[in-house]
Amino acid sequence: MSFQTSTGKIIKDQEKLSFDYVPEELPNREDQIQNLFGLFRGIVSSNISQNVLLYGPVGTGKTATAKRFCMDFEDWAKEKGKTIDYAFVNCRRRKKDSSVMWKVVHHFDKGFPDRGFSTEEMMEVIKGKIEERNLHLIIVLDEVDYLIQKSGSDLIYLLSRFDEERLTPKGNVSLLLVSQKNAFQLLEESARSSFKRSNRVKFPKYTNDELFPILQQRVDIALYSGSIDEEKIRLLSDISGKGGDGGGDARFGIELLEKTCLIAEMDGRNEVSSEDVRAAKAEVNPHITESKLRDLKDQEKLVLLAATRALKNTTYTTTGDIEEIYKVVCEEKDNKKLGHTQFWNYLQSLSDQGILNTRTFADGSGRTTKVSLSDITAEKLEKKIESLI
Ligand SMILES: Nc1ncnc2c1ncn2[C@@H]1O[C@H](COP(=O)(O)OP(=O)(O)OP(=O)(O)O)[C@@H](O)[C@H]1O
Ligand SMILES: [Mg+2]
Repeated sequence: MSFQTSTGKIIKDQEKLSFDYVPEELPNREDQIQNLFGLFRGIVSSNISQNVLLYGPVGTGKTATAKRFCMDFEDWAKEKGKTIDYAFVNCRRRKKDSSVMWKVVHHFDKGFPDRGFSTEEMMEVIKGKIEERNLHLIIVLDEVDYLIQKSGSDLIYLLSRFDEERLTPKGNVSLLLVSQKNAFQLLEESARSSFKRSNRVKFPKYTNDELFPILQQRVDIALYSGSIDEEKIRLLSDISGKGGDGGGDARFGIELLEKTCLIAEMDGRNEVSSEDVRAAKAEVNPHITESKLRDLKDQEKLVLLAATRALKNTTYTTTGDIEEIYKVVCEEKDNKKLGHTQFWNYLQSLSDQGILNTRTFADGSGRTTKVSLSDITAEKLEKKIESLI
């Protein structure tokens, strides 16, 4: 079999367009980074712990800023003779306390068993590691609202008072919470009281003009020079400034840039045209981005694939119908089938992430949950998922 590959005359380094890539500089997030530095510098001068929340809408650079800040702060502290380390946990993938703690322990000990230890026991292991290495640990809980909604505030409470038994305000663990929602409102009072009001850093939506240098930067590092001119970058900024969930979303902008380049490459050209930008706009869905789909767990992808097949010829489908198709999908893909409860959890998670819509109807025999899809055709989504499995 032969694969159809793009001719590659435009994209020089695709990795630099991926969402995991964190650029050295983050245009228009200098204030947020400086703000974070102001809050955290006390760790180095006097070992004072901080609990901070970063919040703002989709694609406003929260995750990228948290990562960039931790990397740069680690380097800065090192020059001052202080060891800082950070553990990054995505709570959309880890919604349970024990699973979050495991990720933090795993940061220190790659061979740590993934079951058999309680949250408190893992906390003790982390304490030991911190003391052994005499470091200050920043725990980043990204998309923390998923954790709070699923498991409550207990873990955040515990972590924010990690060093409680000491009488001095000194400490070895700081918390950096990241969320689209103002996670403070979700926290129980006891946990919330560990956060000062001033320890919140807001990430507003990007304006069209702010998106321009962000996209220009990606063009400079990821594309061959001369493959896209300023006008087209401007057009991409304008589209992503108003598209997405209310606009101002850099992720949407970067995905649009990549798609634009791929369309031109597939056509054998080495320069992007405005028609490519418009064609890309028609392809890229601001709500259901490829990165979101790529991030799904394998079983979630199979459940979603089943749902798209069930929805191709109907507006609403039932969870029972999806489950039947899911069984077939598992056989087709040679995958183990989940039990009913887990299947249901994955379906719920797809709905929580805004990919599918679920709605409960009351009828004579009780309540049934119906599933629908509104942001993309079932056929397109099916193809996308197929390509990711
Ligand atoms: N100021 C910036 N400069 C360069 N790239 C940026 C900037 N802001 C965001 N990006 C890029 O845009 C994409 C989305 O950013 P990021 O993942 O940080 O958003 P987010 O606020 O965490 O969104 P979400 O709420 O969906 O998690 C990433 O690829 C990121 O590198
Ligand atoms: Mg993020």
